[in-house]
Amino acid sequence: MTTLTIRRPDDWHVHLRDGAMLAAVAPFTARQFARAIVMPNLKTPVTTTALAVAYRERIAAAAPGFTPLMTAYLTDTTDAADLISGATDGVLTAAKLYPANATTNSAAGVTDIARIMPVLEAMAGAGLPLLVHGEVTAGDIDIFDREAVFIDRILSPLVTRLPELRIVLEHITTREAADFVTDAGPNVAATITPHHLHHSRNALFAGGIRPHLYCLPILKRETHRLALRAAATSGSAKFFLGTDSAPHAVDTKEAACGCAGVFNAPFAIESYAAVFDEEAAMDRLEGFASLHGPAFYRLPVNEARVTLERGVTVVPERFGDLVPFHAGETLGWRIAA
Ligand code: NCD
Ligand code: ZN
Repeated sequence: MTTLTIRRPDDWHVHLRDGAMLAAVAPFTARQFARAIVMPNLKTPVTTTALAVAYRERIAAAAPGFTPLMTAYLTDTTDAADLISGATDGVLTAAKLYPANATTNSAAGVTDIARIMPVLEAMAGAGLPLLVHGEVTAGDIDIFDREAVFIDRILSPLVTRLPELRIVLEHITTREAADFVTDAGPNVAATITPHHLHHSRNALFAGGIRPHLYCLPILKRETHRLALRAAATSGSAKFFLGTDSAPHAVDTKEAACGCAGVFNAPFAIESYAAVFDEEAAMDRLEGFASLHGPAFYRLPVNEARVTLERGVTVVPERFGDLVPFHAGETLGWRIAA
């Protein structure tokens, strides 16, 4: 296979940031994707429908023609009525659960899921999807176990309690997560990033510490990477594309206490294509990238098509003060002109 024409893909998990960073990164996402689920963890989080409306306008200015799908950041004091009216009015596509202090800009996140149970019940009733950063934050839990423990302690009981709530377990990193999602009912799905498909935790320390591969949830063992590759290329509609592109300026990555996040937006579809090609599953890329996400979110698929072709994509070392995923490497697929 030397070319592959698919419906235009969407990115079901991206961090576009704000201000100058938004202007710098949004065009990369818009080059490849028609729509994207935009994460709400700005420095001042997008906690209300009004804040989502304003953020959506700033994104539209940075990337004309691209459709941002807005999310609200859940806190202990989220107003369920505001959330549901935001969904009914077509502003909000989903709401995001960050356990407090789990990741970047999550200090205002939820301290105990019991506190937001009435909000989750309202979301279940309204059909508004819950997007989950699935890691516990307890200091006694090993960083490599935080996702699996979250599934046991929080997610599994939640699915039992609210089976009608539609849930996306975001950026899954473990065999446990892939198995949980596979075995759950049709209301549970997951996104998978390119970096978790390409790398195990060994890559974080290959020849020295590699801060540009540091992200949350952190890269895991090779067995987990292989399970994610199997899930992504399985053809199951429960798994779909979500880059978790999370740009941080180079001086905040290459630092004594560096920020978590991989900036993979520039060549995300080419990066996924490399994985599907290695797995001899190019025929399943369209489902993962362009069909399963809209089906879960109950949105139409994109009518436009894009052709990928074999050919050399050279990934630059830098875009301004951002270091992209695969910096200095070449990828074997490109978007045809
Ligand atoms: C994300 C960020 O920087 O906003 N970082 C990351 O490592 N993935 C937050 C997140 O999705 O956890
Ligand atoms: Zn993210």
